[in-house]
Amino acid sequence: MIRLFSIFILPLLPVAAIAVDYKNDVLPIMKKHCFECHSGGNAKGSLDLENLSEMRDYQVGKFNIIRPGNPEESSFLEKMHLPTSDRDFMPRKGTKLPDDDLDTIAKWIKEGAVIDAENPVDSETEWVKKSGGASGGSGMASQNREFLKWTSSDGKEIEARFLGLSGEAAKLLMKNGKSYTVPFSRLHPDSVATAKKMAGQ
Ligand code: HEC
Repeated sequence: MIRLFSIFILPLLPVAAIAVDYKNDVLPIMKKHCFECHSGGNAKGSLDLENLSEMRDYQVGKFNIIRPGNPEESSFLEKMHLPTSDRDFMPRKGTKLPDDDLDTIAKWIKEGAVIDAENPVDSETEWVKKSGGASGGSGMASQNREFLKWTSSDGKEIEARFLGLSGEAAKLLMKNGKSYTVPFSRLHPDSVATAKKMAGQ
């Protein structure tokens, strides 16, 4: 999908904001694939993925299974990348998560593994600030957090999150975490209209 679009999109610098958090982006994935064994009172491996404060306090941290900024060394994510036959593979006895979901989780960890972007705790805000992000500072309205379908002028479709306008272009964030500036001339008029509407124009 990305390859199709790459003909007309120009890479932009990464956007400095918390674009992904646990509550909105990762939790729905966990719910679908992991809650069966990792939610509520008798969660396996003492890992209750449903309990946000427990996740923040006990699972996220420099020496924990989720290491902010470091998806490669987070055993949490590593388990989901193992061969399904590995005894440590998660979801246990299940199938591998879709690549999109794994990308979202990697991006979440990379961006500081913030649990709830609307209510960050001090340690999370500090981390994001130190790593060069701007905590929630993009003014992204909640409607703009959704991935929408965008159509190019020649009819190709991508799913992306709207970040804002840049002159006569729309800034779009792909699910893999990359953002692009797409000139209006390369977008279908309907998508241009959507972008303008979302920007309040
Ligand atoms: C069918 C049940 C089942 C499902 C579904 C499942 N797990 Fe597990 N998980 C377990 C069991 C059992 C353990 C404890 C394993 C052990 O101690 O050897 C565990 C342990 C873990 C651990 C290690 C916890 C620790 O601190 O040592 C992680 C991380 C984990 N699971 C993540 C996940 C994720 C993420 C998903 C969804 C993608 C998932 N699991 C789905 C059964 C499951």
